[in-house]
Amino acid sequence: MREKISQPQREQRINQKGTIFWFTGVSDSGKTTLTTELEKQLFDRNSLTYLLDGDSIRGGLNSDLTFSPEDRCENIRRVGEVARLFADAGFFVIVAFISPFRKDRDRVRNLMSPGRFIEVFVDCPLSVCEKRDPKGMYKKARAGIIPEFTGISSPYEPPKSPEIHLHTDQHTIEVCVKQVMDFFQEI
Ligand code: ADX
Repeated sequence: MREKISQPQREQRINQKGTIFWFTGVSDSGKTTLTTELEKQLFDRNSLTYLLDGDSIRGGLNSDLTFSPEDRCENIRRVGEVARLFADAGFFVIVAFISPFRKDRDRVRNLMSPGRFIEVFVDCPLSVCEKRDPKGMYKKARAGIIPEFTGISSPYEPPKSPEIHLHTDQHTIEVCVKQVMDFFQEI
């Protein structure tokens, strides 16, 4: 019987350990901006990366899902499985989803070996996000036009002990990305 290619073999080939960097935070907290810049910096230093972002995945793979608690759970389950496959291939997988429920994020963490799931809490007070509101979604949520909106009419459960805690209302994007890059030097 031929042996299958193992994860260590793949990782040796590309010289990096597949890891999921899971960014969680409410809408307009800065997830997409941060993860786009982070991926660029990692790419520039020749890392193999892949970015999975809620706004794009919900337009394709998960276009059948709503924002009900059950569908958000399924959204995160699918994305977690996809992220795991990329990590198994040796990628640094950067995931940017609101992922409001602790149990859903923990389920993905439990798919991974210790140290291969890094939770990044993109922390920004709701009042600041609501002021940013580039797409006018908070306004619509307040008016009841968008139901079950995270932070307004649907809960957000912050991580209890994230590996990385970013405060996007207090620090610039550059400083926050550096905080994550500094963590990369350690792994
Ligand atoms: S999650 O809660 O299921 O993790 P996800 O990250 O995929 O959410 O999608 C969030 C994006 O969908 C937001 O950035 C926003 O643009 C859009 N959106 C549309 N309706 C809602 C809603 N009811 N609650 C939160 N975000 C919504």
